[in-house]
Amino acid sequence: MLISEDKINEIRKSINIVDVISDYIPIEQRGKNYFAICPFHDDHNPSMSISKEKQIYTCFVCGAHGNVFNFIMDYENMSFVEAVKTVANKTGIPLDISTYQEKPKDKGITDLYNIYDFANKFYQNNLYTKDGADALKYLHDREINDEVIKEFEIGLSTNNKLTNLLKNKNISNTVILNSGLSSSKEDAIYDTFVDRIMFPLWDLDGKVVGFSGRVYNKKDPSKYINSKESDIFKKGKLIYNYHKAKDEIRRKKFLIVVEGFMDVIALYKVGIKNVVATMGTAVTNDQANILKRLSTNVTLCFDGDSAGNSATASCAKELINVGITPSIIRLEEGLDPDDYIKKYGVEKFNDHINNSKSLLDFKIDYYKQSTNFSNSEEISKYIKSVVDELYNIDDKIIKELTIKRLSDETNVSIPTIKSMMQGKVVVKEEKREVISLNKYDKAERRIIYYMLRHPEVIRIYENNKCYFPTNEFRFLANEIVYYYDKNGNISIADFLSYISDKKELYDAISKINIMDLDENYTHEEIIDYINLLNEYSVKVRINNLTNEFKNTIDDSRKTEIAKEISELKVSE
Ligand code: CTP
Ligand code: MN
Repeated sequence: MLISEDKINEIRKSINIVDVISDYIPIEQRGKNYFAICPFHDDHNPSMSISKEKQIYTCFVCGAHGNVFNFIMDYENMSFVEAVKTVANKTGIPLDISTYQEKPKDKGITDLYNIYDFANKFYQNNLYTKDGADALKYLHDREINDEVIKEFEIGLSTNNKLTNLLKNKNISNTVILNSGLSSSKEDAIYDTFVDRIMFPLWDLDGKVVGFSGRVYNKKDPSKYINSKESDIFKKGKLIYNYHKAKDEIRRKKFLIVVEGFMDVIALYKVGIKNVVATMGTAVTNDQANILKRLSTNVTLCFDGDSAGNSATASCAKELINVGITPSIIRLEEGLDPDDYIKKYGVEKFNDHINNSKSLLDFKIDYYKQSTNFSNSEEISKYIKSVVDELYNIDDKIIKELTIKRLSDETNVSIPTIKSMMQGKVVVKEEKREVISLNKYDKAERRIIYYMLRHPEVIRIYENNKCYFPTNEFRFLANEIVYYYDKNGNISIADFLSYISDKKELYDAISKINIMDLDENYTHEEIIDYINLLNEYSVKVRINNLTNEFKNTIDDSRKTEIAKEISELKVSE
């Protein structure tokens, strides 16, 4: 942490979380707490509660939680330090930003931003010179008018002028080459992008971090070229149009993902602005997590060809990994959204949006397309694939209907298909069991909660030997003790600042029910919890020893183990 803990806590205390959150979203008071529609998932009832007393918020549906800094970080997509700065600015607490740089400001990175900014202006200007006439005509023919050109800062690269201009600004060749906008040949350096329509690529904050250039006046096997990846541009993390679409997505409460930035522009043109794109690459886990911050209500609209089908399936998989089940739009005749709107108009495209398919139906169609229904093996494979998908569906009616449909399609009887389901359903129910809390889980959570609310409990914990079976809670307890010893006081809100860069611990806090537990504790209650956990440790130890006993062939060791087990059983 680069800003001192004291300073961070001082800044946090200078503001009321209720006021800050209400600047972003409407909130209403109910009793002691405040409630809001959670902005971090697709919420319809107020699921987020905000405690004025504890200065924290939690969403009981998506698990978002934290203090004022965490809220700003997630809402504004900022780093922790930026969120602290934001609050400091609001309340006028002086914070000497220059001494608190997040990373020592890397000269190379500043140079990159400056070069891209300069290039962006330069390219845009070219489009409206006489060199730009053909390119401008190309864009106008694609129905990209001047307003849209301006909005997306579209430009044109011409022959070698940029490299010379950058050199004239006394920027070294190494730095120019680093930007990827120039390339070297023998001893000289030249523009990488020549005669291409240039689309700036923005990072999540709207800073230009690269370009994509499209051919428009010649045959070239590379339709698009992107500037190279750098410290500030990683294809797998970039989401095109993120910063522009953010507010519209929050307003409309859903997000459309397309494959290319041309499709974003095509949709924008006809008034559909809650759209982002990847760079024509498979969606990564990083991107899925970023999308989740925008909305959990995601519709994928990839190209209507078979590549688009595979891309849809792989993107859906990444989204499911982060807890989002997208709905799907498939466009006819292999068209991409841009072509589709050109051919059929925006109303028909809107029909698609309003009638997007469920992921299940998309997958079934997808498997069906590759199945030869006159081949029994393929039919069997098809049924198995669909049954595997059904395993993830909770809705009984959907299951029933799908099974009936499968049976009609394949002439395999409903009972046979159902029998294939059986084994799977059981597995799923067993899994659920494990998740429900047992008394030991509860004991861990309560002790942690009371440690955070009543520092006396930290002492009780320290004075009674106690071992938490769950790693994350054991680490949390250790950090709480450490924090308290160091600072002499503790509050949930300040502790959250302290662990905000320790993801595992930060996530673990959401499991504790920090809003709902009883505020008061008794000494006996805490001792009971500690005893429970110790009893659990003994059980685990006995279990391990019993296993070892079964597996060891050494007789003297067997005797030792038996002795230890009987001793443990007495203490139990
Ligand atoms: N792409 C790329 N290099 C290529 C082709 C595509 O980097 N040679 C990336 C681009 O980011 C592009 C996306 O993949 O935006 C989608 O490609 P594609 O569907 O072929 O392009 P369109 O978006 O349809 O663009 P256009 O309508 O101009 O052909
Ligand atoms: Mn296209």
